[in-house]
This record gives sequence, C-alpha cells and structure tokens, in this order.
Amino acid sequence: MARTFFVGGNFKLNGTKESIKTIVERLNEAKLASNTEVVLCPPAIYLDYANTINKRSPLVKIGAQNTYTKASGAYTGENSVAALKDIGIEWTILGHSERRTVVAREDDELIAEKTKFAIDSGINVILCIGELLEERKAGITLDVCKKQLLPTIAKLTKEDWSHVVIAYEPVWAIGTGLAATPEDAQETHKQIRDFLKEKLGAELSEQIRILYGGSANGANAVTFKDKADIDGFLVGGASLKPEFVDIINSRQ
Ligand code: G3P
Repeated sequence: MARTFFVGGNFKLNGTKESIKTIVERLNEAKLASNTEVVLCPPAIYLDYANTINKRSPLVKIGAQNTYTKASGAYTGENSVAALKDIGIEWTILGHSERRTVVAREDDELIAEKTKFAIDSGINVILCIGELLEERKAGITLDVCKKQLLPTIAKLTKEDWSHVVIAYEPVWAIGTGLAATPEDAQETHKQIRDFLKEKLGAELSEQIRILYGGSANGANAVTFKDKADIDGFLVGGASLKPEFVDIINSRQ
C-alpha cells in the first residue's frame, strides 16, 4: 500500500491571527497536490482560531505542538488532549528536539507516555526523533534514533501505529539552512524503517510514514522526491512562507 505524502508545518513560537489566516488562505488559493496530507501546527494560543478558518481542502488540518500525559488537573501551562478533542483538533507534534533539549528536558520515556496517552485519547501524533551534531559526528545516529523509539515501541499496540507519523529531524539541520543531503536522509530513514520492521514486522513498518525535518524548503524539497523512505516533511521556518506550497507539491 502506497504511503500518503504528509507535510507538517511547525510554526513553533511564531505567528499572529493575521499571519496564520494568511497562511491558510494561501493554501486555499493554491492548487495543492491531491494526495498530500497537511497539518499546520501554530502556537497553542491560536489553535482554536486556526481551526475555525475555512480550509478548502479536507486534507489540511490543524495540530498542536505538544500535549501532556493527563487530560486535566494541576499541570500548569500544559496542553490537554481532551481540550484538543473539544475544539476539534486531531493532531499533535510530540518529542520535538526543542522540547527535549531547549525549552524542556523531555526524555524518551515521558515522550512515549505522552504519545500513548494522546493516541488513547483520539489524537494522532507526529513523533519526532533525531540526533545532535556530536552524535552524528560520533557515528551513533541510528543508536540514538533507536533509543528514542524504544519506549514508544514498548507502549504502543500495533493498531496504535496507524495514528503515528515519525519525523526524523537531525538536530544539526534544524533552523540552520543546512538540510541533510537527500542521500544521507534516505539512508537514515531506511535504517529507521528496518528497525521498525525488526520490532513491528514488515507489513506495519511499510505503512508507517517517516518525514524528514531540518531546513526543508521550497528549493530543496523536490531533491528528496525519489527517496523511497522519505514520506514527507516536517517544516519549520519555510512553513511560514509562500514556499510552503512548493514543499507540499514537491512529490507531484
Ligand atoms: O519541526 C520542524 C523543525 O524542527 C524544522 O525547522 O526551520 O529547520 O525547517 P526548520
């Protein structure tokens, strides 16, 4: 079964009501590839507003950038999966490197717990993994990705995986303008898929989409086009710009 191309837009801590409206309207006006899922992830403050903006394509959805392991309670500042469901949001990013090493110190076990709770609550997950520059230089990229995936593999049922898209984001490529080469990215994606095959079986490993993230843009997205194990992108900076349409259409 062919995997549907998927492009996430991680706005991070950027945007206003006006800029978010402009991004959605730009997608409404564009001729988007018919076979591509798009999930826009604005800051949590704007989720309800973004979700109410009319989207011409049913394949364009809104997602959160993080959720917690509980639906409610004394957890100041966290995002509730129950609240996301309440406002009609179906997706969240989890395990982004900036939550692992910048704004928080989320470890693999916590991210796995968040992932399982989100799925059990009816929220689909874009699960981020990826190595630091020193880990790439040390030749342990795959070891790092395996370590990051193992707690989630341990917690999820095989059925759960239909609600997960993995995003491989080499941390050294995020926000640097220096994307991994398509060849290097494909090699790591293939290794990740082989690991999923070892743990989850061939059929399931072939169904799970693996996105590339890290300085993807309107110019380089098309160079990943023929890479068999790259099923889309998780885009930061370029998702805020008109070139985001080119990334969405890069697999046509
Ligand atoms: O989650 C996607 C993000 O980390 C990639 O950022 O700006 O390099 O596309 P950017």
